[in-house]
Amino acid sequence: MMKKIRASVPAKVILFGEHFVVYGKRALAAAINRRLVVEASSRERGGYHVKIASIPTFGLEMDLVTGEEKARPYKDYDAAANAIAYVRESIRYLEEKYGIGEGEGVEIEIKSEIPLSAGLGSSAATCVATIAALKAYFGVNGDLDVIREDANRVERRVQGAASPIDTAISTYGGYVLVKEGEVKRLHLAELNLIVGCIGSIPLSMGMATKKFSEMGLKTKKIVEQVKERKEVFKSIYDAIFDVSDAITAQAVTAIEESEFVKLGALMNINHGLLDAIGVVPRRLSELVKLSQELGALGAKVTGAGGLDEMGGVGSVVVLPGESGERLKGAMEIAGALVMDVETGGEGLKIEVGFD
Ligand code: MEV
Repeated sequence: MMKKIRASVPAKVILFGEHFVVYGKRALAAAINRRLVVEASSRERGGYHVKIASIPTFGLEMDLVTGEEKARPYKDYDAAANAIAYVRESIRYLEEKYGIGEGEGVEIEIKSEIPLSAGLGSSAATCVATIAALKAYFGVNGDLDVIREDANRVERRVQGAASPIDTAISTYGGYVLVKEGEVKRLHLAELNLIVGCIGSIPLSMGMATKKFSEMGLKTKKIVEQVKERKEVFKSIYDAIFDVSDAITAQAVTAIEESEFVKLGALMNINHGLLDAIGVVPRRLSELVKLSQELGALGAKVTGAGGLDEMGGVGSVVVLPGESGERLKGAMEIAGALVMDVETGGEGLKIEVGFD
C-alpha cells in the first residue's frame, strides 16, 4: 500500500492594506472558497517529480532531478514556472531545516482552483500546502504556526519581501489582521464578494527553454517598484501609508457592525491609495471604475496589483450590493474571469490516505 498525503488550503483576498502591510501598516485578509491541493506520494525513482495537474488554464510537469519538463496546452507559462519556483524552494528549505527528503522519491501533484499570478495568494497557498504535505509525509511535527512561518520564509526567499499575510490566510483560513508584522486571527461574519481576474498576455512557448530561476516574479517586481518610489517621495508615501492604516482599522469595525455602505466606501478610498502608489494598471482600473459606476458598494484592486507592461495581470474585489448580476456581465465583457466568492472559509486541512 502506498501512503498518500493530501494538504488542502484556501486562496485569499486582501480586503484592505496590501503593500502598506509590507511596511508594518495594518492589513485585513480573508480566505475564500477556492482551494489548492498538494498531494505527496512515493515514487520508485529517487528525487522529486512535480506535476501541476490543474491550475485554471494550465498544466505542467517537471522532474526536479533531471529538469525534464512537459508543458500541456498553455496560457500562462511564466506564472506556472513561478509556481514551480515556490515548490522547488519549499523542498530545498525542508531539506536544509529538517533534513528531510534527500534522495527519497516523492511524487508531488498540485491541483488548484486559484488562478495564478492573480493576487489571490496562489504562491502562498503553494508554499503552505507543499510544506504541510511534505512534513506530514516525512512525519515531521505539523504545528500550524511553524508551517506558516516556514512558508513565509520560503516566500521571502523566492520573492524578496513578503509580509506574513498570505501565508497566514492559507494556513488558518478565516480572517487575519496583520499589524507591524504580527498576525491576529479575527472572527468576522462572512461576506459575499465578486472577484474579477485579468490573466496575463500569453507568452511565447520559447519561455520553456529559459531557466525557471531567471524568470521575473510579478509580486517581487511590484513590491520593489513601490519601495523605489517610497524612497523618492518619502514624506508623501508615509502620509499615504498612515491613511491606509486608519482605513483598515475602520473597515474591521464596519464589518463587525454590518455597515456595508461604509465598508464599500472604505474599499473605494483604499483603491485610490493603491492607485496613488502606482500598482493599479489600466485593465484593473477599468474593472474597478465599471463596478463603481454600476452601483457596487465598493471595489478595489486586491493583492499585489499589476504592471501595465504585462497587460495588467491581477484581480479586483467588489462588494456588489444589489448590482451583482449586471456587474458580473459587464466585467466579463471587459475581459475578466469573474468569480462569486464567500469569505472566511476553512484553513489548512490534511488527510492521510492509501492507494
Ligand atoms: C501580496 O498578496 C500582497 C503584498 O502586500 C505583498 C505582501 O504582503 O507580501 C503586495
